[in-house]
Amino acid sequence: MKNKLIAPSLLSADFGNLHRDIEMLNNSQADWIHVDVMDGRFVPNISFGFPVMKTVQQHAKKFVDVHLMIVEPEKYVEEFIEYGADLVSVHLEACTHLHRTIHQIQDKGAKAGVVLNPATPVLMLEDIIADVDLVLLMSVNPGFGGQKFIQNTYKKISETKDLILSNNSTALIQIDGGVNLDNASKLFEAGADVLVAGNAVFSSQDPERTIELLKF
Ligand code: DX5
Ligand code: ZN
Repeated sequence: MKNKLIAPSLLSADFGNLHRDIEMLNNSQADWIHVDVMDGRFVPNISFGFPVMKTVQQHAKKFVDVHLMIVEPEKYVEEFIEYGADLVSVHLEACTHLHRTIHQIQDKGAKAGVVLNPATPVLMLEDIIADVDLVLLMSVNPGFGGQKFIQNTYKKISETKDLILSNNSTALIQIDGGVNLDNASKLFEAGADVLVAGNAVFSSQDPERTIELLKF
């Protein structure tokens, strides 16, 4: 996997025209397609589940990145992989047995990511960093698109980078929430490898052009 990747979030897509929006992403410079699953329990919002994931599987030609904002994710990770997830990320705050869940994802043939909420310190990753393929740092409180970026994320990127280096980990750093054309290049410079963007892409006049611009 290479750095400077853009992962548009389908949460901000037009669900009446989901096939059209996925085709737009297929034809764009997007690297991954980010799929936000919310259960109304771990986060105060419900997004979508397997029927939408099935549509993604049918049409997406890009790497499919599933972000589970659900309690007891271990009950569903395998089914998401059967529905075509290339990477599944689970929240540290939602996993009682995080090490087991990370390996459950990898044993099923997908990459595994761990997600931290804005208030969860990076040091919580010390004993799992060597096992994960990706660290997703939330730069907003999860649950909704279109929120304001939390500046403390820059400090957490630098701490995550140090942790990765000191453990010879190959984990990528992904940032999710409030990413836009003003902060994207700063985030890559700070050490991010993958940026999720929902609102910035889908609310723009020209989503394909915005995806291109987010890389520079
Ligand atoms: C928030 C989701 C994000 C969201 C990002 O809970 O995890 O992936 O779609 O949306 P923007 O880019 O609009 O902040
Ligand atoms: Zn997300």
